[in-house]
Amino acid sequence: MSAVKERRKTKKALESFTATFAAKSSNEGFARAMAASFAARLDPTVEELADIKTALSEAVTNCVVHAYKNSRGNGEIRIKGSIFEDGRIVFEIKDKGCGMEDVEKCLQPLYTCDPEGERSGMGFTVMESFCDGLKVRSKPGKGTTVVLTKKIGRGDI
Ligand SMILES: Nc1ncnc2c1ncn2[C@@H]1O[C@H](COP(=O)(O)OP(=O)(O)OP(=O)(O)O)[C@@H](O)[C@H]1O
Ligand SMILES: [Mg+2]
Repeated sequence: MSAVKERRKTKKALESFTATFAAKSSNEGFARAMAASFAARLDPTVEELADIKTALSEAVTNCVVHAYKNSRGNGEIRIKGSIFEDGRIVFEIKDKGCGMEDVEKCLQPLYTCDPEGERSGMGFTVMESFCDGLKVRSKPGKGTTVVLTKKIGRGDI
């Protein structure tokens, strides 16, 4: 197969969904369950499913506790899920909250903007270690998009 065709093959999403919901901690379970049932069609192992749920939880929690910390529960989170022909599952978790001044700093293990509180600064590190890819795009005052990629099984679906 030519390089161009190969690239097209891996870019084309077989399935996708988009869901928008209120940025409340009571919706974290909903986001986990939604991600898990979407991933289920790739026939993941119990461990792969647990990894996806854990990573999603960290990303959604960040939207609730950081992005919309000053929004009095009025923010929205949008999740887009996509499954690709090569067995990758990709979740984009997007908020329109406060954004980050310095993404690289926020990605450092143990960095938290809330050292006095109950946060440990390990959310992004957990996302990175439980997934195969983590990308973060953010603009101060505009919001943040976290892209999590996980390869499920042997990828020959
Ligand atoms: N969606 C977001 N919007 C704005 N800032 C964010 C967002 N997600 C993360 N951050 C910033 O990145 C920092 C690091 O996030 P990370 O999830 O690694 O740690 P934490 O949330 O502080 O602690 P933990 O996840 O261990 O409870 C946060 O403290 C916060 O400053
Ligand atoms: Mg966190």
